[in-house]
Amino acid sequence: MVSTASQIGPFHFDNVLMNAAGVYCMTREELEAVRHSAAGTFVTKTATLEARAGNPEPRYQEVPLGSINSMGLPNQGLDYYLEYLLELQETVPEKTYFLSLVGLSPDETHTILKKVQASSYNGLVELNLSCPNVPGKPQIAYDFETTEHLLTEVFSYFTKPLGVKLPPYFDIVHFDQAAAVFNQFPLTFVNCVNSIGNGLYLEEETVSIKPKQGFGGLGGQYIKPTALANVHAFYQRLKPEIQIIGTGGVLTGRDAFEHILCGASMVQIGTQLQKEGVGIFERVTAELQAIMAEKGYQTIEDFRGKLKYID
Ligand code: SIN
Repeated sequence: MVSTASQIGPFHFDNVLMNAAGVYCMTREELEAVRHSAAGTFVTKTATLEARAGNPEPRYQEVPLGSINSMGLPNQGLDYYLEYLLELQETVPEKTYFLSLVGLSPDETHTILKKVQASSYNGLVELNLSCPNVPGKPQIAYDFETTEHLLTEVFSYFTKPLGVKLPPYFDIVHFDQAAAVFNQFPLTFVNCVNSIGNGLYLEEETVSIKPKQGFGGLGGQYIKPTALANVHAFYQRLKPEIQIIGTGGVLTGRDAFEHILCGASMVQIGTQLQKEGVGIFERVTAELQAIMAEKGYQTIEDFRGKLKYID
């Protein structure tokens, strides 16, 4: 029997597929829909300390090869997601979920993480170092010095399982430099990739979203090759204790298969989940299982990271 089960750190997931932060995760209702789907787990919308309305609308647009967004971190605030997760911890203690978060400043990030540390939350935490859409706030993980400093401080008090959500990198030297930073820390995972930041999509003579004069993060088919490159580059460079979550351009079982082949231990779906709804998890799982069965793979460990090169 083919299994798409996987593991991050000590946590087992019945299915390797889940949502990407930002999609189907703003409210309890959306998170419940993912929880009751074929997905193995969910990640919450990235929480700031206080609730945020985000950028003005229209701020998300489906386009033929994916999506463009400049949401600006709208969310219900940390307490909302933390309370919900603590409830789930009581009612379904055998399951593990991901809490995504980031502050609007380093101080706010520490305040949030210290709250999580002080709580009884025992799931995974994803620190979002890659939101491209808050005006005046650069994507943290493009600044290696700031990232190293932030993680040094974080790991001086934070002892729960923590990973980071990364922007795409585009240069081999940047893969090397980023990996050298992440390898210094007891990270549980890195998630590659967030949207490709600050694209422009035109309708006739006009931009397609309102914030930032139309500049927004690209998702969907546009980004799969970049996502796969980042997954594999970090798979090659990170110490084995740091696992990879693959995100970007997953529409089919073949796309999920490719992320796993490049080294991903979990695979997130964003744009296509938004387009198709939570039924996508059943479809992509069935497609992935069919590919595995055809190739004689029983588990994802039979092919994870085993990308073939041309001699
Ligand atoms: C947003 O809310 O702007 C998207 C979140 C992200 O890209 O990290």
